[in-house]
Order: sequence, then C-alpha cells, then structure tokens
Amino acid sequence: MNDQIRQAVLQLKAGHLVAMPTETVYGLAADANNPEAVKKIFSTKGRPSGHPLIVHVATPRAIQEPASNEAKWVKVLEQWSRDVSPEALVLAEQFWPGPLTMILPKAKNVLSEVTGGQETVGIRCPKHPIAQELLTAFGGGLAAPSANRFGRISPTTAEHVKDEFPELDLLILDGGPCEVGIESTIVDLSRLDTHGAIVLRLGAISQEQINEVLAQVNPQKVIGRNRTNSEQPRVSGSLSAHYAPKTKMYLYDSLRPNELGHTFSLDVEKFHKIAWVHFSKQEKIKPIFQKNIVKEFLLPENPTALAKDLYALLRQLDKLSIDLILFEALPGDSSWDAVRDRLGRASVGSGT
Ligand code: TXA
Ligand code: MG
Repeated sequence: MNDQIRQAVLQLKAGHLVAMPTETVYGLAADANNPEAVKKIFSTKGRPSGHPLIVHVATPRAIQEPASNEAKWVKVLEQWSRDVSPEALVLAEQFWPGPLTMILPKAKNVLSEVTGGQETVGIRCPKHPIAQELLTAFGGGLAAPSANRFGRISPTTAEHVKDEFPELDLLILDGGPCEVGIESTIVDLSRLDTHGAIVLRLGAISQEQINEVLAQVNPQKVIGRNRTNSEQPRVSGSLSAHYAPKTKMYLYDSLRPNELGHTFSLDVEKFHKIAWVHFSKQEKIKPIFQKNIVKEFLLPENPTALAKDLYALLRQLDKLSIDLILFEALPGDSSWDAVRDRLGRASVGSGT
C-alpha cells in the first residue's frame, strides 16, 4: 500500500473526509458507517441533508466456487440492501466496476444520514484503480457525492477539487483527469415489480444497454418509464439548475441563427465579452456578435470525447471574466443524451 492511501485510510477511520478520483468525477468520501463523518459531507458541500449519497464499494475478489460470477456480488450488496434481486446481480456483473449506480431497498443498518431518510440506498463500484485501492484498504463502504459545492460543476481533476474548497485542509488523492467525465448512470431497481428498472440520471451507460442486460433475467420487467413529478425521488442532479457555471450561458440552435439574433438583439450591448463554443467553423452566428467574441472553442464531434472534457471546459470558461458563454446546442440523437442533459442543466443554473 502506498503512503498516500495509508494516509487516506487513517483520515477516513478518524472520521475525516478524503477526495478520491473515480472514472466519472472526483468524490468527497467519508466512512459510510460513521454518521458524524457523513454529516461533514453535507456541511462541506452546502448540500441539503435530505439528498441521499451513493455508497461506493470495492470489487470483491473472484470466487472460485460456486461457479456463478454473480455470486461474488451477493456478499457485497447484502451489506447494504435487504433485497438483492437477480436484476441487481446481473447488472453488477455486467457493468461493475464502472459508471453505474443502482438504487436498491436499503438494509436495516444503513445510516439515514446516507439515504436522506429514504428506504432505498444508492450503491456503486467505481473502476478507477485509486478508488479501488482506497476502498480495498479501507475495508468498508465510502459515501461520496461529487466533490463540488452544491449546484456547481463536478470536478474532473484534483486541481478542480482544490479550487472548490481552497480553504479546506483536505487530502486529495490525485488520479489524473477522469476518463468518463460526467457522473454515473443511476438506475432505480427498488420498485421493479411496479415500475421496472428506471434510469434516474443519464450517464455513460444508457437505458438501452441496461434493458438489454435485464432482458436476460426477466423481459417483462425491463421497461422503464418516466415517473411523474410527484414520484420523482430526491436526486440533486435532477434539479433543473445544476452543474452550473457562474457566467451566464446561452444554448443556441445553429440551424436557427435568426432566433439567436432575435433573442439577443436588444441585449447585445449588455454582453461586451462573449466566448463562442461551437462545433464547426461555420460562420452563421458570428456576424451578429463578431466584435464581442473574445474567445472561441471548437467542440469534438463525439459525445464520449465531449463528456470527458465538458466540465473542465465549463470551468475554464468561467475563469475568463466574460459576460456570456454562447454554446451551440448538441445534436439531437440519443448518443448525446447524457452530455446534452448536463449542458442543459448547466445553462439553466448559469449566471447566478
Ligand atoms: O459518478 C458518480 O455517481 C459520482 C462519483 C463520485 O461516484 N457521484 C455523484 O454523487 O455524482 P452525487 O451525490 O453528486 O450524485 C448522486 C445522486 C444524487 O443526485 C442523489 O440524490 C442520488 O444520486 N441518489 C443517491 N442515493 C439515492 C437514493 N437512495 N435514491 C434516489 N437517488 C439517490
Ligand atoms: Mg453532484
């Protein structure tokens, strides 16, 4: 075990917080069985206490027998959930370690500080080798939200974490830039009988991928449908304003540049310095704002590449001291859904 990991384990055992890299975003971790430590997460982030946290677990060592690969996950999940369904096991086997969080009926002993008082618990086994090393050395579950202040942009480098909490004496394990770059897909399996498996937050793993795997277990139960608002559980990432830069950000449709001119025609004078973020070198909108554009960024034409860099880009844009971020809306096809979701929420919450 290296020194940093040993240090981190000591901190966690003493009830302190540690920032850990995962393949999605950096997390602010605490011992999931220590209520005082978990409370520190909420006070540090400024997060409302009703918002539940994800418990992170290590990959169990392979079991030689029984033959089923899924059996190794039973032991892990049973510590946190009172009802480990075949659906949960098959998803764990397929997607863990990786960017998938499962919502399951909680076990009795799971702290209400972690679940936000709900009857369910979110569990994820992250893939990042440093997260794995830490979880294994710690020997228990780590409750960890993204390591940012509530409502702000999730961090994808150790430096971003430091920027979020400059005044804090926080051990930050540096695992380099996160590979995925946006938060895990969250699938709710707690009401399989009535609702099927429902994706609450989009991420690198799609509803289609999940349905495909679940169809192997029980084709009748795979059809996730959207909840009505009153059914919506508390997922802070589901608030319409989230992941937000402080600079006002406007998403424009490149196919309707005139609309953009309209919307801003009266306000142009207000936005002296504009950053323009777009896909190709097309000039459609440029003439309208030409003299005000102080910075230009070209986007990758690939959703996976954009997901990886999106939060770092938003942070960079926020540091430019500009009045407006003019961001070309993302393509409509489903491969862009997760990253489009984050960008939409970022623009709604921006400028505050
Ligand atoms: O990729 C990720 O999931 C990252 C890394 C650090 O693992 N974590 C993360 O945590 O994004 P956080 O707290 O920023 O977002 C987790 C979301 C929250 O919106 C929370 O409300 C939801 O998961 N959640 C957690 N437990 C839940 C539960 N029992 N029922 C419904 N939603 C839950
Ligand atoms: Mg978050």
